[in-house]
Amino acid sequence: MTTKWGVLGSGGIARRRTIPEGIVAAENAELVAVYDVNKQANAEVAEEFGAAACGSEAELLATECDAVYMATPANVHCAQVCAAADAGKHVLCEKPLGMTVAEGETMAAACAVKGVKLGCGLMMRFHAQHQAALEIVRSGKLGTPVLARAQLSCWYPPMEGAWRQDPASGGGGSIMDMGGHCIDLLEMLFGRVRQVMCLTGNLVQEYASEDTGVVLLEFENGAKGIVDNLFNVPDESSKNRLELYGSQGSILAEGTIGQGELGTMEAYLRKTPQGYEAQQARADGTGIVIAPEPLNMYRAEIEAFSKAVQDDTEPPVNAEIGLWSQRVLAACYESARTGQAVALDQEKP
Ligand SMILES: NC(=O)c1ccc[n+]([C@@H]2O[C@H](COP(=O)([O-])OP(=O)(O)OC[C@H]3O[C@@H](n4cnc5c(N)ncnc54)[C@H](O)[C@@H]3O)[C@@H](O)[C@H]2O)c1
Repeated sequence: MTTKWGVLGSGGIARRRTIPEGIVAAENAELVAVYDVNKQANAEVAEEFGAAACGSEAELLATECDAVYMATPANVHCAQVCAAADAGKHVLCEKPLGMTVAEGETMAAACAVKGVKLGCGLMMRFHAQHQAALEIVRSGKLGTPVLARAQLSCWYPPMEGAWRQDPASGGGGSIMDMGGHCIDLLEMLFGRVRQVMCLTGNLVQEYASEDTGVVLLEFENGAKGIVDNLFNVPDESSKNRLELYGSQGSILAEGTIGQGELGTMEAYLRKTPQGYEAQQARADGTGIVIAPEPLNMYRAEIEAFSKAVQDDTEPPVNAEIGLWSQRVLAACYESARTGQAVALDQEKP
């Protein structure tokens, strides 16, 4: 059984990753139609992947597709998700779920009213090594979680029409764009965040969105976290580190955060609680290599959403997770603006 997909915004990440690696590669999915305001890009994608090239959003929503993958700029997510829900289509919306918490709430409500599923493209949850790390944390082998760090940075120079470079179209800069993935990943591993402190800045790039963002997190279980996202360092200089520390050891990774399915991960785990060692010897600290079979995150994301449509179950990365991510991101920007720590209301969905 296959879920039929339409794609809104076929010319960016959809073309680079989600269509070829996800929708086309998935066992249980099929691409039927695409639409992009860039007609040429849309025609090329339609031709390359054997889909109908629609001339408008309405035309795409009138096709036989069961689900729409939305990969348009953040400032059109809300209106497009609501239109797709109105047309009775399930929606997998790229992160972020709109520009603001209010938009995220509107999108979630529109889908709930129409009885369609809403998923959010936080696909880094599916990375095989992230799932392996989650198993270690859940098994208790890391001990009491104490600190988590996630880094995702790149070189993102000013470009004509780049919607992320203006908060009016991107909702924010490096924190909104890359921090959302990092914080969500740490929440998957350590649990929900209860408060954040955030600093942002524009140090190198000449655009309105922040090119520098650092977030301190406190999780509900008391563990602390650090997320850092830069748009202003050379790509190769950032190893996109993931570091998890607990009372029994650590899990340290490089390059698992990002769009690729590779990366390295090692775990340093004590079998028994340690006594105090004045020497603090580290010479015997060889790690266990965590290298499960790699898995393409875009394919996993599409297969999971397609299965949820077919089985009529909740998608694993659902509206609640996407909306919560928006709440945490809004708290980060409030903290950056006010210079204060901002608490998250745990009663909110
Ligand atoms: N999960 C990931 O790995 C990942 C990676 C990159 C981007 N994203 C997300 O995907 C979304 C798109 O980002 P991108 O990098 O592909 O951006 P992009 O600017 O490269 O591509 C967006 C595409 O949407 C088209 N478009 C713009 N307005 C449109 C409209 N109203 N209707 C139809 N098409 C429209 C543009 O012509 C363009 O082809 C964003 O939400 C972004 O955060 C996710």
